Amino acid sequence: MLQLFFCLGFVIAVQLSQGTEVTVKDNNNNTCLYANLMVNFSVSYEVASNKSATVNFELPSEVTTNGSTCDNTSSTLKLNFGEGCSWSLNFTVNGKMYQADTITFTYNLSDANVFPNSVVNDTTTVTVKPQITDVGVDTCYSCNSKETLEADGVNQTLWKVLIQAFVRNNSISENITYCAADIPTTPVAPTTNPTTPSPVTNSSTALPPTTTPTPTLPTPTAGKYSIKSDENSTACLMANFGLRIKVKTDEMNFEPNGTTVSGSCGVNTSQLVLTSSSMTIALTFANDTKKFHLHALNITGKTSSGVEFSEVNTNLSLWEATVGSSYMCNKEQNYTITSQLTLYTFDLQVQPFGVTKSSFSTAHECSLDDTNILIPIIVGAALAGLILIVVIAYVIGRRKTYVGYQTL
Ligand SMILES: *[C@@H]1O[C@H](CO)[C@@H](O)[C@H](O)[C@H]1NC(C)=O
Ligand SMILES: *[C@@H]1O[C@H](CO)[C@@H](O)[C@H](O)[C@H]1NC(C)=O
Ligand SMILES: *[C@@H]1O[C@H](CO)[C@@H](O)[C@H](O)[C@H]1NC(C)=O
Ligand SMILES: *[C@@H]1O[C@H](CO)[C@@H](O)[C@H](O)[C@H]1NC(C)=O
Ligand SMILES: *[C@@H]1O[C@H](CO)[C@@H](O)[C@H](O)[C@H]1NC(C)=O
Ligand SMILES: *[C@@H]1O[C@H](CO)[C@@H](O)[C@H](O)[C@H]1NC(C)=O
Ligand SMILES: *[C@@H]1O[C@H](CO)[C@@H](O)[C@H](O)[C@H]1NC(C)=O
Ligand SMILES: *[C@@H]1O[C@H](CO)[C@@H](O)[C@H](O)[C@H]1NC(C)=O
Ligand SMILES: *[C@@H]1O[C@H](CO)[C@@H](O)[C@H](O)[C@H]1NC(C)=O
Ligand SMILES: *[C@@H]1O[C@H](CO)[C@@H](O)[C@H](O)[C@H]1NC(C)=O
Ligand SMILES: *[C@@H]1O[C@H](CO)[C@@H](O)[C@H](O)[C@H]1NC(C)=O
Ligand SMILES: *[C@@H]1O[C@H](CO)[C@@H](O)[C@H](O)[C@H]1NC(C)=O
Repeated sequence: MLQLFFCLGFVIAVQLSQGTEVTVKDNNNNTCLYANLMVNFSVSYEVASNKSATVNFELPSEVTTNGSTCDNTSSTLKLNFGEGCSWSLNFTVNGKMYQADTITFTYNLSDANVFPNSVVNDTTTVTVKPQITDVGVDTCYSCNSKETLEADGVNQTLWKVLIQAFVRNNSISENITYCAADIPTTPVAPTTNPTTPSPVTNSSTALPPTTTPTPTLPTPTAGKYSIKSDENSTACLMANFGLRIKVKTDEMNFEPNGTTVSGSCGVNTSQLVLTSSSMTIALTFANDTKKFHLHALNITGKTSSGVEFSEVNTNLSLWEATVGSSYMCNKEQNYTITSQLTLYTFDLQVQPFGVTKSSFSTAHECSLDDTNILIPIIVGAALAGLILIVVIAYVIGRRKTYVGYQTL
């Protein structure tokens, strides 16, 4: 009965946690395997009336590691949970590298709490090969990206994975081998340095690192957003940008694909509201007669680790430009919105008032971009000044000559 409750209760329990974190000790009571990871399971099974049902559940944060083993050349991580469920991963070492071999997931279809109406009444095992290879010995393998492994009616999604097998000297390594998916494909200037977990120095407390390192995110995809005052009119507000936010230490790119756009255009205030699967961003622009600026920003959502946040600042003066023109900033910019939230923009161009023909008007470029056009402006101004001096000199010269003739 206790176990039944456990199987039912783990779904609620895990939502408060950061993932499943375990350490495995060897015969000498030294840490030999460390893992902190999240796994979602989607299991399809047969129910009465010749149909199949699918259940989704997560690897609970409370697991036992009975059955885990470590030796010099191979080791196995075995996580037991629920009523006869287990997830295991075995590793082999090969010179300077180690790799994971097989994931073995065992689930118990007779657990009616998890698999209601199952026609089959036994324990099922699926195996699948993960892509965890070429991990340097004495380094942690880190993969924040999702990887979905499909096998026999079971999809396992792994993410926020931090694993070290063959741990040496009873301490988790500071050095990290990142998975390919976490490494940006386009070489962009890194915005943050990957934080490395602090090394475990005191073997008696032997607490593993609690924060998963965040590798550099790729440049966010730029989205093009516009709103119309009614369905038959042209756009009255336009905004193109790629966005990234940082909430505390969690960085997330805003995904334009699948985003719903809403908002309103007014005389004194216009608003753009973007809703993606992970967050809602409301940008409020103010028109103070001659100029506009971004006045308020309200971002609510969930971080990639599932923590809810809501950050608002209604006293901003960003992106200022003349009403009837647009504000543009191609370079990456960062803005501290609140003490918890930083906004990063990429390839920004906005025009919240006075849009005509669904296109941006003359752009006021931000100071960073301005440095590129500052030199032509100085040269142009100098030239104009020179021409003016020549014209004045010519006029004065002519007058003098005229006066001269008259005196004759
Ligand atoms: C994992 O599952 C939970 C609950 O089933 C869901 O809320 C969450 O979005 C899932 N995460 C991923 C990455 O699929
Ligand atoms: C596994 O994922 C594939 C592709 O997304 C999907 O077609 C299939 O229905 C999924 N199976 C389960 C059991 O969720
Ligand atoms: C169940 O499905 C199989 C194939 O999908 C079909 O051959 C069989 O007749 C079905 N049985 C029933 C009872 O509907
Ligand atoms: C890993 O586990 C799988 C399944 O139990 C097994 O078939 C495989 O031989 C193991 N690999 C190693 C290298 O021990
Ligand atoms: C499952 O097994 C239990 C005991 O082994 C039995 O009482 C029950 O009837 C079985 N259920 C099905 C659907 O076969
Ligand atoms: C991490 O890597 C650096 C450079 O390769 C090395 O000097 C250092 O000893 C390594 N630290 C650990 C804990 O392995
Ligand atoms: C292993 O270490 C822990 C504390 O680090 C201690 O409580 C436990 O008794 C030790 N076990 C063995 C078998 O030495
Ligand atoms: C948009 O135009 C269509 C056809 O010209 C018209 O039927 C509809 O009422 C108009 N809608 C609005 C909101 O003006
Ligand atoms: C947007 O998402 C849909 C499905 O979610 C996908 O089919 C499409 O390729 C995506 N488009 C881009 C540009 O990523
Ligand atoms: C901006 O505000 C001024 C004064 O309130 C108003 O006259 C003007 O029409 C507004 N501009 C736009 C584009 O709404
Ligand atoms: C910010 O947005 C959230 C959700 O969209 C809303 O509940 C909240 O009232 C907004 N806060 C402000 C100050 O507008
Ligand atoms: C924010 O931008 C400034 C330059 O505008 C740069 O020096 C700083 O490193 C950036 N901060 C972050 C966290 O990217």
